[in-house]
Amino acid sequence: MSPPPDPQKSEATTAGNYFVANYPPFSCWKREDAGLAVARLAESPAEDTPFGLYVHIPFCRKRCDFCYFRVYTDKDSRAVRRYINAVIEEVRMHAENAAVKGRKPEFVYFGGGTPSYLSVDQLTMLFEGIQQHLPWDSAREVTFECEPGTLQEKKIHALKDLGITRLSLGVENFDPDILERNNRAHRAKEIDKAYDIAREVGFRQINIDLIAGMVGETDANWQKCIERTIEMAPDSVTIYQMEIPYNTTVASRMKESGEDTAPVADWQTKRRWVDEAFSALEQHGYHVGSAYTAVRGDDAKFLYRDGLWHGADLLGVGVASFSHVGGVHFQNVHDFDPYIEVVESGQLPIHRAMQVDADQRLIREFILQLKLGSVDTSYFTNKFGVDPLVRFAEPLAKHKKDGYLTIEGTRVIIARHGLLQVDRLLHDFFAQEHRAVRYA
Ligand SMILES: C[S@@+](CC[C@H](N)C(=O)[O-])C[C@H]1O[C@@H](n2cnc3c(N)ncnc32)[C@H](O)[C@@H]1O
Ligand code: SF4
Repeated sequence: MSPPPDPQKSEATTAGNYFVANYPPFSCWKREDAGLAVARLAESPAEDTPFGLYVHIPFCRKRCDFCYFRVYTDKDSRAVRRYINAVIEEVRMHAENAAVKGRKPEFVYFGGGTPSYLSVDQLTMLFEGIQQHLPWDSAREVTFECEPGTLQEKKIHALKDLGITRLSLGVENFDPDILERNNRAHRAKEIDKAYDIAREVGFRQINIDLIAGMVGETDANWQKCIERTIEMAPDSVTIYQMEIPYNTTVASRMKESGEDTAPVADWQTKRRWVDEAFSALEQHGYHVGSAYTAVRGDDAKFLYRDGLWHGADLLGVGVASFSHVGGVHFQNVHDFDPYIEVVESGQLPIHRAMQVDADQRLIREFILQLKLGSVDTSYFTNKFGVDPLVRFAEPLAKHKKDGYLTIEGTRVIIARHGLLQVDRLLHDFFAQEHRAVRYA
C-alpha cells in the first residue's frame, strides 16, 4: 500500500489505496492457508455469532475510470447464466458445511460490480436458486446495489417483490459532463427517473452514493450536488472521497504519462467537500452515522455494515468475494473463468486465507468501529478481555494530541476533522508488522 497521505507533507491525490476495508491487510492472506478456511468451515459456528451473506455480481455496462472493483463489461447472457449457476452451486456446497448448515442470514448484501445489471429473469433465477439452499426469510435487511441507468420500471418492481429492503443507487454526481468524463454509464436524467419510481414502489431504505472529487469537480458543481441530494431526500447518503488505486484506468493513464498527481482535487479539498455536504445534510434532519454516511431518522440502520464492523460471520460468494467465518478470513478465486471452473469441478473456490488471532480481531473491530465516529471501549473489554484504552494507549495519545479525538470516560470520540480522514489515522492502530506492508 502506498503510505497514506500526510497533511503535513503532500495533500495531492497520488495513486494508491485510502479506504481501509478490513484487517489484517489483504496482502497477508495466503494461498497456502486456503486449507485453513476449508477446515474451519467444517466446524460448527460459535453460538450467538450473527451471520450474513454477501453475493458478488461482477458485471457492469462500462468500467468507470476510477473503479477498482473486480468487474467485467464483456460477458454475454450465456456467461452471465453460467456465473449465476456457479454462485448457486457455491452456496449449495457451503450450506452442507457445519459452519453454515441451518443458519439463517440476518442480512444479505448484493454488491458489485452492478447487481442491477441482471435482468428480471436472471435475478429471479439467482434469488430462487440461492434460497433453495440458504433461505433468508428471516433476514432483516436485504441490500441491492444499483447503477441508475439499469433500473427500468419493471426491474424496480421486481426488486421490491424479491424482498429487497435497502436499495443503494450509485449516483456519484448529478452533472452530465462530469459523469461522462469519468466514463460512468448512466446519464444524469436517469437518476431522477430511477429514484422517483423506487420511491413510489416503497423500499424501506434508499441510499445514494456520491463521490467527492470526481475528475472535473468544482466548488460550484459540488454545491449543486449537495442541493440536489437534499431535494431528493434519500434515507441515507454515502459520500466517498475519490481515491485512485493502482488498478484504475486513471492510475494507468498517470503511469503512461509519468504523472505523480491524479487529475482530481487534493485530499484537503475532498475533506472540505464532504464536510460541507455533512453540514448541509445536518441542517436538513440528517445525522452523520460514519465517516462516509449521513442518515435521516433513527431507524435508518445499516445491518450489513454494523455486522461486518462488529465481527459477524460473513459468507461472501462469487468471484473474488471476501468472507470472514469463525475467525478466518478468506477470499475467492479472483478471475471469472477459473472461479466458475473450480466450482463446476465440485470444489469450494477459496483462493487465499488467513487465521485471525484474538489481538488481530480486536484491532480489526476497533479500527472499523472508529469509522463510526464514537466507540464504547467497554464493548471490547467485555468481548476480548482487553481494555482498548490500555492496548492502544500510544496511537490514542498521538491522535488526541493532534486534536483528532477525545476520550470521555470509556468512550473514544473522533472529532469531525479526524473522521474526515479516519482511514489515514487507522494505520497507527495496526500491529507493527502490518504497517509497512502493501494493503491489497
Ligand atoms: C460497486 S459500486 C456501486 C454500484 C454500481 N456499480 C455503481 O457504481 O453505480 C460501489 C461504490 O464505490 C464507490 N467507488 C468506486 N470507485 C471509487 C473510487 N475510486 N473512490 C471512491 N469511491 C469509489 C462509488 O461511489 C460506487 O457507487
Ligand atoms: S458501475 Fe460501479 S462497479 Fe461498475 S465500474 Fe462503475 S463504480 Fe465500478
